[in-house]
Amino acid sequence: MKILVATQKPFAAAAVNGIKEILTQAGHEVALLEKYPAQEDLTAAVADIQAMIIRSDKVTAEVIAAAPELKIIVRAGAGYDNVDLAAASARGIVVMNTPGQNSNAVAELAVAMMIYMARTQFTPATGSEIAGKRLGVQAFGAVGRLVGAKAKALGMSVCALDPFLKDEQIQAGGAEPVHSLEELYAGSDYLSIHIPALPSTIGSIGYDLISRMPKGATLVNTARKEVIDEAGLEKVLEERPDLKYITDVAPDNYEALKEKFGLRVFATPKKMGAQTAEANINAGLAAARQIADYFATGNTRFQVNR
Ligand code: 3PG
Repeated sequence: MKILVATQKPFAAAAVNGIKEILTQAGHEVALLEKYPAQEDLTAAVADIQAMIIRSDKVTAEVIAAAPELKIIVRAGAGYDNVDLAAASARGIVVMNTPGQNSNAVAELAVAMMIYMARTQFTPATGSEIAGKRLGVQAFGAVGRLVGAKAKALGMSVCALDPFLKDEQIQAGGAEPVHSLEELYAGSDYLSIHIPALPSTIGSIGYDLISRMPKGATLVNTARKEVIDEAGLEKVLEERPDLKYITDVAPDNYEALKEKFGLRVFATPKKMGAQTAEANINAGLAAARQIADYFATGNTRFQVNR
């Protein structure tokens, strides 16, 4: 089989080498498309492939239509909102992710972001400490749990909301369960977002929730920019000069926010949560193994489009 590794944001070399090794040893051919300048480059590269490994690369209906032999897409990472699942399912293409493989990298960044904002973006202004503060975790999945554990180790108290988990499961993960978004936002000095981008979550965090946060609170977004209602965020930041926002996914109105709110807002120049050598290796190699296994045994354990 021919497998395309399409990564607009490339993996570390060690991950690419590992992927090639796993797939060639399993008898497959590997093609690499990195840092491609235009979406058309991706569309052009899929004509003769049977499988692909991607990151946040956009596998649209157009890309799928241009890949008549495609059988499996593995998103080396957690979120698969970049894949047109309906178009893939309509063709019987299996879509998988590699859950948990890059979680630690994202969790470390979320903690770093809290400290960065607490210390006024590493400027000499007097900052604050995160120890003794309360962290709210919105969605207690692989990343959320790790953020909670790291925050506890740094002296924070941690609460979490997750509609898919029982209280005991949240407690077992070391956090105090809360039962509504309103309660979560109202009680969190730091609020770390870990929800996926779904029709039900897009634009779901806006004025109503953010304005409930306590004095001096910071909202940390290492999830997706789409879950924030940007106009609502801007309005709250205007009304509440004590609030801060830091994100790994620049909002569309970032320039306006920066101009208006200065050191109270920060966005990374390019999504970097999962951009560590370790996460690249974990997620990249897991993706390669899942593809090799799928072709060898039909294993669809991590399929997301059932
Ligand atoms: C994920 O969903 O796994 C993260 O957002 C990482 O995305 P990336 O592979 O584009 O860095």
